[in-house]
Amino acid sequence: MLSKKAGPIGVFDSGYGGLTILDEIRNALPEYDYIYLGDNARAPYGPRSFEVVYKFTRQAVYRLFEEGCHLVILACNTASAKALRTIQQNDLAQWDEKRRVLGVIRPTVEVLDSLSHSKHIGVVGTNGTITSRSYELELAKMFPHIKVTGKACPMWVPLVENNEFNSPGADYFIRKYLDELFSVDMQIDTLVLGCTHYPLLIDKIRHYLPAGVNLFSQGERVAESLKDYLQRHPEMENRLTRGHNTRFLTTESADKFSEAAAVFLSESISVEQISID
Ligand code: DGL
Repeated sequence: MLSKKAGPIGVFDSGYGGLTILDEIRNALPEYDYIYLGDNARAPYGPRSFEVVYKFTRQAVYRLFEEGCHLVILACNTASAKALRTIQQNDLAQWDEKRRVLGVIRPTVEVLDSLSHSKHIGVVGTNGTITSRSYELELAKMFPHIKVTGKACPMWVPLVENNEFNSPGADYFIRKYLDELFSVDMQIDTLVLGCTHYPLLIDKIRHYLPAGVNLFSQGERVAESLKDYLQRHPEMENRLTRGHNTRFLTTESADKFSEAAAVFLSESISVEQISID
């Protein structure tokens, strides 16, 4: 039985990438409590099938509800692409129809028309996000005149997860994928970082980006969209506790998580290891 008491905002990612989103959300909304859950034991999600990403994400969301959250942000493009809709349409009604799960793709897509002059946009993401065509589908609904080219960058998440994002290997794979993307459409003037791990690679991505191309990193936008959501939904806002605290949960080793998280958050944190399957 899920508790009706007010609780923290849940933030979920397959691993560390969602910490880039958590950071921006806490900057924009510092007064609330948060629980971050990284399913590090089963990351990366990028190469996994729809069924598996849905199953893992569903388990994680339910666990965050059990921990007292009424609102969970999927701070992961892969989970937003492959699991969000099914959870919203099928699972919430069964668990508790007043709880909410929000993703990162919709808020990103909403601002893209105002950012691009050429109306040619590139999206880099995991295999899962790109093959789901979620950005194309959302953009087609909202801004059908925009041409989108997606590029899967399967080596970028492992570079970040293994703390290799400043290595020469990172340069090689960043240049390779960007060259491949821009050889498909040279009119792209806005590149969306469609994976929450990629902000860690931002300096190198900027370095290899053709001149004049804007880089769009979604953290700040997701935070702004959440702030707006809470203003429009006082019934949800009333179910959030305000204690300025964050708990960190991982399905892998707590020590490993706190060491890696220091790179993302520039702070030292205490972490609890949990099991969700
Ligand atoms: N951070 C996740 C995303 O935004 C993906 C990482 C993974 O492959 O697990 O897509």
